[in-house]
Amino acid sequence: MQSRGSILVVDDDIGARESMKMILGGRFDVATTDRGYKAIELVKEKEFDVVVLDIRMPDITGIEVLKKIKENEPSPEVMMVTAFAALDTAKDAMKLGAYDYVEKPFKSFDELRNAVSKGIDRKMKMAKSLQLAKDFDEVRKQLLQLEKLSSLGQIASEVIHELATPITGVLGYSEFLLDQECNGIIKNSLQKIKSEAERCQNLIRNVLTFARKPENIKKPVNANEIVRRTVDIKAYQISLDNIKLVLNLDPELPIILADFGLIQQVILNIINNAQDVLKKHDKERLILISTKSDADNIFITIENSGPFIPTEHIDMIFEPYFTTKGAENGTGLGLSISRDIINSHNGEISVKNNNTIGVTFTIRLPIYKE
Ligand SMILES: Nc1ncnc2c1ncn2[C@@H]1O[C@H](COP(=O)(O)OP(=O)(O)O)[C@@H](O)[C@H]1O
Ligand SMILES: [Mg+2]
Repeated sequence: MQSRGSILVVDDDIGARESMKMILGGRFDVATTDRGYKAIELVKEKEFDVVVLDIRMPDITGIEVLKKIKENEPSPEVMMVTAFAALDTAKDAMKLGAYDYVEKPFKSFDELRNAVSKGIDRKMKMAKSLQLAKDFDEVRKQLLQLEKLSSLGQIASEVIHELATPITGVLGYSEFLLDQECNGIIKNSLQKIKSEAERCQNLIRNVLTFARKPENIKKPVNANEIVRRTVDIKAYQISLDNIKLVLNLDPELPIILADFGLIQQVILNIINNAQDVLKKHDKERLILISTKSDADNIFITIENSGPFIPTEHIDMIFEPYFTTKGAENGTGLGLSISRDIINSHNGEISVKNNNTIGVTFTIRLPIYKE
């Protein structure tokens, strides 16, 4: 929509038409026509904000033109212009969707200008509410998608929960057998069964911590522990994509006050994005996660060796619904949720392209000071 507002004046009387053009021209972009039928065509071709419409015209009445114009979507606001004799018709026009009418001759220039401005305001409000309705529809679709994902997550966590029992059995029996007299080969195999079962148990524990409903309970935790437990969940999948994951964790890292599962979710989102990028990358596939601290904060940096984020995207990636993966593969919500989570921990999350290659996400979180 033009910032000046675009007006179409429809009047068969050249005097009235030209004077309206002159009165309105200073403030608005004004086009004119002397024919009702022509007006109907023009409105289809170009999006006018307001049509100023004479009621009495020789070819077709203003009322008919109004009806036709209002059939368009989106339609302009319409204001009727009428001589006193047709006042009743003007009032009827309001029922058909015109927002106002002015009488000819005009009492003052301002009367006409103000009436047109009123139409422009209405048009803007209408455009805004149409946009809101569109946004709402988009959010509804996203929620539906989330709902699907969350029920999938629900099923997965139930299955995993179920798995905990037999795994405990396997562990128990292998320990029992290891206590019995048996030869070296069998003992060796039993050791393997036991350690594999322990690995499963760890994985189950980590996934269940992650899948639990957010309690929003912040406790003193070591971020290294959060990183390790998150990486445990992803290590296998990542290795399938030939991605190397390297940890460089500061053993002296101070404690933070955080919701374990939520910070885990943030790290997971960033790793998932890195995985998406790297699995299509034919050069080095590396994710490096480091931790360090200064006097007041700890920093978790997650770096990947993938291509740069284009400059025109880098300011947008934390915005809700921004995705370059298409509706099928991305929701565009991962990073915006991550930012909300880190903000709710009084921290900060940022991204930058490295100097030569790769992308680094940095999470800053305040040190817990009792
Ligand atoms: N490590 C990365 N390298 C390049 N682009 C990235 C990276 N992480 C995120 N992005 C970009 O940010 C967008 C938004 O990410 P996100 O909010 O997680 O949503 P989604 O993964 O559903 O697209 C991605 O679609 C991608 O364009
Ligand atoms: Mg993502």
